[in-house]
Amino acid sequence: MKQLDGFPTSYWRTSIEASTYPKLDDNLTSDVVVIGAGIAGLVTAVQLIEQGYDVTLIEADRIASGTTGYTTAKVSSQHGLIYDELIRTFGEEKARLYHEANEEAIRFLRDQTTRLAIECELEEQDAYLYVASTGTKQKQLTKEADAYSRLGINGGDATDEVKDKLPYPVEQALVIRNQAQFHPVKYLLGLARHFTEQGGKLYEQTRATSVESKRTPTVLLESGHQIEAKKVIVATHFPFNDFKGLYFSKLEVHRSYIVSGLVQEDFPDGMFMSADKPSRSLRHVKTADGKRLGLFGGENHLSGHQTDTKANYQALAHFAESEFGVAEIDQFWSAQDLISLDKVPYIGQMTSDDPNILVATGFAKWGMTNGIAAGLLLSDLLTGTPNRFRGLFDPNRSKLNKQDAKQFAKNNADVAIELLKGKVSRASQSADDLGIDEGGLVRHAGKTVGGYRDESGELHLVKTTCTHMGCDVKWNNGERSWDCPCHGSRFDYEGNVLEGPAVKPLKQIKK
Ligand code: FES
Repeated sequence: MKQLDGFPTSYWRTSIEASTYPKLDDNLTSDVVVIGAGIAGLVTAVQLIEQGYDVTLIEADRIASGTTGYTTAKVSSQHGLIYDELIRTFGEEKARLYHEANEEAIRFLRDQTTRLAIECELEEQDAYLYVASTGTKQKQLTKEADAYSRLGINGGDATDEVKDKLPYPVEQALVIRNQAQFHPVKYLLGLARHFTEQGGKLYEQTRATSVESKRTPTVLLESGHQIEAKKVIVATHFPFNDFKGLYFSKLEVHRSYIVSGLVQEDFPDGMFMSADKPSRSLRHVKTADGKRLGLFGGENHLSGHQTDTKANYQALAHFAESEFGVAEIDQFWSAQDLISLDKVPYIGQMTSDDPNILVATGFAKWGMTNGIAAGLLLSDLLTGTPNRFRGLFDPNRSKLNKQDAKQFAKNNADVAIELLKGKVSRASQSADDLGIDEGGLVRHAGKTVGGYRDESGELHLVKTTCTHMGCDVKWNNGERSWDCPCHGSRFDYEGNVLEGPAVKPLKQIKK
C-alpha cells in the first residue's frame, strides 16, 4: 500500500486543467454580484445571465476550490437518514417538498448538461443506504423505509440487492432509483465557459471581505476595490458576512475524508452509504483509460476537533484494501460540510429586513443537489418568479423547535468552551524541536504559538487566534492547516485563509 504522505489532492481538481480567469483590479457596478464560484454560485449566475441580467461572479480562489471540488459528487436525493426526521420536524408535505427539490435538481442537471453540451461524465446510478449491524440505526432505517413509502419515493427495500453487491455483511438496505454521479469540476468549468460566453463577468482570486448595506449593497474586496450592485448573492459555502443574520450560531461544521484507488472491473455499480458507524461512502469513476477508480469516503468529525487527521485517511485506505483489494491509494482529500439546525439548507433573503442580500448555505453533505436547488431558487427570488420551495428553505423560517433549540444552545456553548480553552493551552515543545513536515503548538520567545516546519526545513510561525471571533485554531496534520473548532475557518500553515467564515489571515510571527 502506497504511503499516504504528501499533501492531499482531489481527483476532481487534478484530472482537469484549472481555470485561469482574471483578478478584478478595479471598481465595478453590476446588477447582480454573485460571491463564490462553487455549484450554487455558478448555477445562480448562469440562470440570471440567461435571463438578460448584468451579472458579476467573483471567487476568492479558483473555480471549485471549495467543497464542490472535494466532494464524492453523488447527485442524489438520498441524504442519509433524513426523510423520517423531516416528517417529524416539518410534516409530510414539507418533507415531500424537500425530496422534490432535490429530484428537480437532478432533472435540471440532466437537461442543462444536454442543452449546453457540457461533458461532465454524468451517468445514472441507484443510491443505496445500508446498515451493517442491528441496533438503533437499523431501527431508524426501518422508519426511513416507511418514510419513503409515505412520500412516494421511487425506491424502498434493497437488502438482498446490496448483500449481493457489497463484499461485507449488510443487515438492511434501502435504495432510491435513477440518481446520478458526475465529475463536478468539469460541470462547473462548463458552466463558467457558458456564463462568460453569454457576457457574464467572472473574476477569480478576488476575495470579498464585507457587504455594506447602503441604499443598494456594496461589496468590499480585499484588494481595496468595490462592486456596487442592486443585489448581492452570497454563495461562499460559509457566509463570510455571517454576522448579518448570526449564521455562525446556526451552522455546524463537519469534515470528512476520501481516498481513491484502482479497483477491479466487478466493483459494484451504484452509490453506497452506511447509516451506522463507521461511516462509509462508496462510488466509482471511469477513468480516461477505461479503468475503474473506487472512491472511499467517511471518518466524519466536527471541524477543528481532530489533530491526527492522517489517521482518517489510513482507516479509509485500510478499508479499501481489505474489502476491495485496493493495492495502492491514488489520491486522498477531504471536504468541509455545513449543517443547519434543522438539516434543511438556508436559501433566500439573508435577513428579513434586507431584500437585497441573498444567501445559500447549510447543504449538509449534499451540495450537488441542494446547490443546484439553491441556484434555481435564488435566481427565481431575484427575478420575482414564483418558486414552491421558497418557504421550505427560507433562512428566516419560523422559530426553532425544541430539538433545534437544543442544537443551537449546544453549538454556542461549545464555542464558549473553546474560547476559554484556547487561552489556557500551553505548548510543551520548543519551535526548534519540530521535525520536517511536523506542526503544532510550540514555545517561541516565551509564548505559545502555532508552528510548522516544511519539507525544506523552513519554520512557519503563526498566532493561533482565529480572525473570525477569536477561538484558538488547532493543527490538522493531514491537511497541514490550522482549523478552528468554533465555526470551521481554516488557514494554511502560513496563515492564509483556506475556508471561511474568517476573511483575514492568521497573524504571522517573526522568527
Ligand atoms: Fe469563528 Fe474561528 S471560525 S472563531
